[in-house]
Amino acid sequence: MSNAPDRIETLIGDITSLSVDAIVNAANTSLLGGGGVDGAIHRAAGPQLLEECRRLNGCEPGQAKITGGYDLSARHVIHTVGPIWQGGKNGEAEILTSCYETSLRLAAENACESIAFPAISTGVYGYPTDQAAEIATSTISRSLVDHLNIRSVILVAFSEENHRHLLAALGRAED
Ligand code: AR6
Repeated sequence: MSNAPDRIETLIGDITSLSVDAIVNAANTSLLGGGGVDGAIHRAAGPQLLEECRRLNGCEPGQAKITGGYDLSARHVIHTVGPIWQGGKNGEAEILTSCYETSLRLAAENACESIAFPAISTGVYGYPTDQAAEIATSTISRSLVDHLNIRSVILVAFSEENHRHLLAALGRAED
């Protein structure tokens, strides 16, 4: 089994196009859809995803719930709710850390070997992308030690800037 950091890769692109066991959705507490990556995932997965989400009774910030992937190439969607950035002194870092931890735990419990994350909270919710990238990479590296069945974690950036922050947080040189 390779080291935790060796199981983390990054790419720039649309998370809905990935063929992985699970993609993570940056949802809101209603789990009933929205804009950003949430809107893109619901559009690509089709209406059955919303039907299943209606039965989940929402989700607290920092927690996660799993559904099918329906029309997506991904088998599952793991819906997590990130913190709304309020300046950084309202537990935002702890909530964001918990999003990554609970999503990975849920993935492992559901026998997912590959999982892709968007940059949770860095869009509508306003979390600074450099700080969010640090939390994402450090939390995933730590958690993977406990989840040996997860072989591949893909961190999906939607902009060059976000990708630079991910590479910097991983201590990797740019290609
Ligand atoms: N693939 C990968 N990343 C994406 C995609 C995509 N198709 N689309 C956007 N991103 P956001 P949040 C990036 O706003 O900040 C929704 O309305 C985007 O550039 O989607 O957690 C929910 O319903 C950014 O870096 O999520 C909530 O109400 C990152 O995904 C609220 O937004 C997250 O941006 C959640 O806000």
